[in-house]
Amino acid sequence: MSAAPPSSRGSWGSQFGFIMAAVGSAIGLGNMWRFPYQMAENGGAAFLILYLGMVLLVGLPILFAEFAIGRGSGKSPIDALIHFGGEKWKVLGMLFVVSGFLILAYYAVISGWLMTYTYIYLFEGSIGDPGGTFEAYSTGPIAIFTLLLFMVMTLGIVAGGVEKGIERTSVWLMPILFIVVAGMAIYAAFLSGSGPGYTYFLQPDFGDLLSLDVLASAAGQAFFSLSLGMGAMLTYASYLQRKENLPKTGLQVAGIDVGVSFVAGLMVFPLIFALGLQGQVGESTVGALFITLPQAFSEIGGFTGRFIGIVFFSALFVGALTSAISLLEVVVSTAVDTLKWTRKQASLVMGLAITAVGIPCAINLNVLTIYDTIAGEVFLIIGGLFIAIFVGWVMKDPVGELAKGMKSDRFSLQWIKVIRYVVPPLLIMALAVQVMKTIRVIAGIF
Ligand code: PHE
Repeated sequence: MSAAPPSSRGSWGSQFGFIMAAVGSAIGLGNMWRFPYQMAENGGAAFLILYLGMVLLVGLPILFAEFAIGRGSGKSPIDALIHFGGEKWKVLGMLFVVSGFLILAYYAVISGWLMTYTYIYLFEGSIGDPGGTFEAYSTGPIAIFTLLLFMVMTLGIVAGGVEKGIERTSVWLMPILFIVVAGMAIYAAFLSGSGPGYTYFLQPDFGDLLSLDVLASAAGQAFFSLSLGMGAMLTYASYLQRKENLPKTGLQVAGIDVGVSFVAGLMVFPLIFALGLQGQVGESTVGALFITLPQAFSEIGGFTGRFIGIVFFSALFVGALTSAISLLEVVVSTAVDTLKWTRKQASLVMGLAITAVGIPCAINLNVLTIYDTIAGEVFLIIGGLFIAIFVGWVMKDPVGELAKGMKSDRFSLQWIKVIRYVVPPLLIMALAVQVMKTIRVIAGIF
């Protein structure tokens, strides 16, 4: 491996650092908040099977595609797309930036709730009335305050730069998160009555395997959880200096992400079933996890329940922070490259602008739901679809680009076929279903 000259854009200090940053982007609310409620909504274990299928068929190919565009160009998304495809592809890059803006805006509100919950468990004790607590803190002045606090932390880290800010944070925080999640799953296994939780999680209802709705949700979850379709992985790969084996790195990142979602399921469902709260799992509102789990913790009671509350919500906070960093990095790196701002200036201005866009979500949860369905589901899939078209049909020599750092291009040749012929039809179908669903959701609100 030969090291390229250091770039003024910044670069990763080590391969481990890059993997931890990418894993940090991937693991977040998607694994521990969205994944369990998506499962509950979409037929339990059947969803899990389709989800794994979607990760393999569309998630990994798009992850490799983003890695190849990012490393190949060494540029932030808009410039990278122009580099390989010409001016008109700028529009796709702009969609990425808009997605980053909207997703981070509501993501930071939910992350703010995590801060509030951690605070309550730390300083006030257990949560006796989770429904009331959620009502009281999910919107209003406290929600706005924690949104701002969370965004200030995020922008501070991004302003610190690629290696000193993003990489250092991820390298420290991710291993801690793995230990906590695994520890909680083991704890849940020892609770009596947790058995049906595993059955629910692991036993598929095969009827749901054929449902297009479930398939589309699985595709959406794969994109959200792997941070795909909005240039986050592209941007991170643009800071690679060496010719890494991208598919191998991508497999590691996706493997860890899927693994953490799986272990999160092994923690959440047994816990909920052991405490007899399964009736609430189906109520798949945004707040389900913020109400059901605290209820479980208070049933455990005493110091243990409180301790678990602290550990759970702070771990989730760690995951959310490293994901938020990657969302902001897409916007900031674009501002630095195209508007020629300094990194500090871009972090501050964009961070505060995103906070402003998030405030409506911290006032009205319907706004949060609208941002989530539009940007979190529809935009990411549109982004992924166009990445597939771009790499499959527009970009010159994607095969060679991905194969750099590998011994032969055999793998790469198979990959491009999947990108051309498998990914687009699946995503068009998922998109159609998700658009219908979004219309239903929005119509339901108004
Ligand atoms: N992957 C993150 C999660 O699962 C969310 C995210 C989506 C981050 C898109 C970056 C880009 O929580």
